[in-house]
Amino acid sequence: MPASPSPLPESAIVARLRAVGCVFAEDEARLLLAAARTPAGLAAMVDRRAAGQPLEHVLGWAEFCGLRMAVDPGVFVPRRRTEFLVRQAAALARQAADPADPADPADPADPADPAGPGGQAPGRARLIVVDLCCGSGAVGAALAATLGHVELHAVDIDPAAVRCARRNVAAAGGQVYEGDLCAPLPATLRGRVDILVANAPYVPTEEVGMLPPEARLHEPRVALDGGADGLDILRRVTAAAPRWLAPGGHLLFETSERQAPRAVAAVTRSGLIPHLASSGRLNATVVAGARPAAAGGPGG
Ligand SMILES: C[S@@+](CC[C@H](N)C(=O)[O-])C[C@H]1O[C@@H](n2cnc3c(N)ncnc32)[C@H](O)[C@@H]1O
Repeated sequence: MPASPSPLPESAIVARLRAVGCVFAEDEARLLLAAARTPAGLAAMVDRRAAGQPLEHVLGWAEFCGLRMAVDPGVFVPRRRTEFLVRQAAALARQAADPADPADPADPADPADPAGPGGQAPGRARLIVVDLCCGSGAVGAALAATLGHVELHAVDIDPAAVRCARRNVAAAGGQVYEGDLCAPLPATLRGRVDILVANAPYVPTEEVGMLPPEARLHEPRVALDGGADGLDILRRVTAAAPRWLAPGGHLLFETSERQAPRAVAAVTRSGLIPHLASSGRLNATVVAGARPAAAGGPGG
């Protein structure tokens, strides 16, 4: 319920936010006014935002792929660029569901429509989607909403992220596990996963200190630090992926453009067929790896 009457007029909120450097002060003021339940609540939210907390932590949600995802304080805020990972995964999932689908994953659907609901061939078993390093669960939840009927499993090592993700994947009936990468996944998923997405931490350790304060001070280090070259966790994900992917299944993860050649080399070493896609508009790079459809038993 919007706070009304407000002790803080919109113009005063805008001025306060602008004074601390909020570029979209008008938009943020409107969102805070709409979210606050009481005048005191509004004042507290404005104080938190003016003190530098990410807007999404103050509001308790972030918009991602046109959906509202719950984001608790201390949990990584899903980034707009990661919508490209969802679109790439949705395009490959559609191909897995219906190999006759001519969708070109390098040129995914209209950005305004991340993929549109549905997309599985009638009669096919539900696609199995795993979201590793799920944070708030936004990637898996958006993918499930885009594709419709999927079996969704998500993992994070951080208990706060796991609690938050459980709320976001509930609509898809998904399961969230706490633990290290694939370790907590049910063994019954081995060799059966159609889409394995991982927006893992990929900031090189030395660059974490250069991130904007909203990330550096309000998102956990475990969500950001990817080791010396930023690829430590992604190399582990890539090495594990062939054991979990179904024949013809796909691994997808986000990197920086600079890291992409080394990430592609890791995918190739793991025995997957690499594919690189990028979006200039979203400044996003996605590395994918397909398990060959004709492969024998799960390797890796
Ligand atoms: C960059 S955040 C991305 C979160 C989410 N995928 C998104 O795009 O919004 C990376 C996440 O990986 C989790 N993480 C880091 N190391 C992990 C590990 N070894 N196993 C599982 N999760 C891990 C962090 O807790 C964090 O939530």
